[in-house]
Amino acid sequence: MRMSNNLSRLGSDVGGTERGNRLIETAHAMVAPNKGLLAIDESNGTCDKRLESAGIAPTVEMRRAYRDLLITTPGLNQYINGLILCDETIWQTTADGTPFVEVARDAGILVGIKVDAGATRLAAHPGETVTEGLDGLRARLRSYTGKGARFAKWRATIKIHGDASPTRACLEANAHALARYAAICQEEGLVPIIEPEVLMDGFHNLERCQQVSEALLRHVFEQLNTQGVLLEEVVLKTNVVFSGLEAPTTDEADDVADATIQCLLRTVPAAVAGIAFLSGGQSGKLASTRLNAMHVRYGTPSQPSGAPGATVLPWQLSFSFARALQHPALEIWAGLDANRAEAQQALIHRSRCNSLAIQGRYSETPESA
Ligand code: 13P
Repeated sequence: MRMSNNLSRLGSDVGGTERGNRLIETAHAMVAPNKGLLAIDESNGTCDKRLESAGIAPTVEMRRAYRDLLITTPGLNQYINGLILCDETIWQTTADGTPFVEVARDAGILVGIKVDAGATRLAAHPGETVTEGLDGLRARLRSYTGKGARFAKWRATIKIHGDASPTRACLEANAHALARYAAICQEEGLVPIIEPEVLMDGFHNLERCQQVSEALLRHVFEQLNTQGVLLEEVVLKTNVVFSGLEAPTTDEADDVADATIQCLLRTVPAAVAGIAFLSGGQSGKLASTRLNAMHVRYGTPSQPSGAPGATVLPWQLSFSFARALQHPALEIWAGLDANRAEAQQALIHRSRCNSLAIQGRYSETPESA
């Protein structure tokens, strides 16, 4: 991808030449127009739970076979710019022995890797967590770049419990860890995906979700600044703003779109390379509908038109979904080779729906095609 002279100069100044330019280029490629990221970086435990819920044995081989199905889906590169893998998967191969990273590279799909070690209890703050994984991170990143990874991912999860939490301690601890991780990634030549997520569990309303999401993002960008992270070389992955799962009311897609964009405009500097949303447990259709509403109501750098008179956002908005892309494919597959092609079709279908959504062209027609 070509960069403007300004961006190219910035990369040279900060990253000491080639590396800085390469990171900016990678970050832009990750949010290139009309495509998104497919997250298949569930921890082994989470992947096992999802396999079991689809009646599939939770074994190393079934995890490998499932990832094989997803990664080798014909035509995936029409809609997907990058894959987020986990440690187990990045070293695995297809049934015929081709490394997964080679399959992705041959399809022109970037490979990324989840590097956090998960959320652990935050001392002195009952019910709250902090994501860990900084110990030994640099050495792990080197092994992943050696394998061909171009970007990394670290997820911080924040729960809303009424007005009492999240606490400032929880927001600060998670933001600090995200920033330390991001700085190490950039030094090691990987684009960091920064993933602060406000979880959808809870009784909170849309306004409370927006308030907490804004507070979280403010802490994150303050810490990124403190730790010297170059914003042109990061991709933000964050939650869509909507009411909690147990809330008595549901939100209109337009309200979700407006609350999400207002939250981002108030907190995310324009220098960030792009924003890719997580699905957070929304159904596939709902995730596409809300993403579409954002792109109908607002313009983006690659598609500045939006609705008449609409605000043009400074960043590309994209998707980086796990469940909202994968779920139908997993259900159809059910662990059986005979269902493989149909499951891959289901993955293509959801990927295409989200590709249309980030162009503001998603509707019931392509959904039911
Ligand atoms: P979901 O899209 O299922 O929320 O997963 C997001 C994620 O962080 C996986 O990388």
